[in-house]
Amino acid sequence: MGTEPTMYERAGGQEFFARLVKTFYDRVAGDDLLAPLYPEHPDFTGARHRLTMFLVQYWGGPADYSVERGHPALRMRHLPFAIGPAQRDRWLLHMATAIEVTTADLPDGAELAAELLGYFRPTAEHLRNDTGLPITSPSFRNME
Ligand code: HEM
Repeated sequence: MGTEPTMYERAGGQEFFARLVKTFYDRVAGDDLLAPLYPEHPDFTGARHRLTMFLVQYWGGPADYSVERGHPALRMRHLPFAIGPAQRDRWLLHMATAIEVTTADLPDGAELAAELLGYFRPTAEHLRNDTGLPITSPSFRNME
């Protein structure tokens, strides 16, 4: 009984996600709006490692992210960083470019690219935290 191959398998495993995230962060590193948000910038080694592990796990690969970092709780983990529409759009722009570059020579690249972007778009909007609702208040942020 065959099961559908995961995105992890279709895209080429660990190597694909490492390449995607490296291409993405190389662009973020040169972005004046985004780079200063990263606590370890200009060193993106740790950020690269965490996002790669997360995406590998999310798309059906090994669950190293959870072993190392626990529950993803992405919204909570992004509360310390001011993310409004400008940051969201810039993040998505770099990710869309990285996706385009890294899927270009894959079989079914266009399909994979569309699926990846279809995930990142609403997720980036979900992480926006400039809504002015109580969840963005400093006291809530301190509850971490
Ligand atoms: C909307 C714009 C976004 C901004 C401005 C942003 C910014 C950041 C920053 C500043 C960090 C801390 C860097 C570090 O880990 O050292 C971070 C961590 C992280 N981000 Fe984002 N991010 C955004 C969207 C996303 C999206 C859409 C995803 C996934 C789909 C994502 C996944 C992650 C992950 C997995 C981490 C590491 C969490 C951890 O284990 O600590 N981010 N992000």
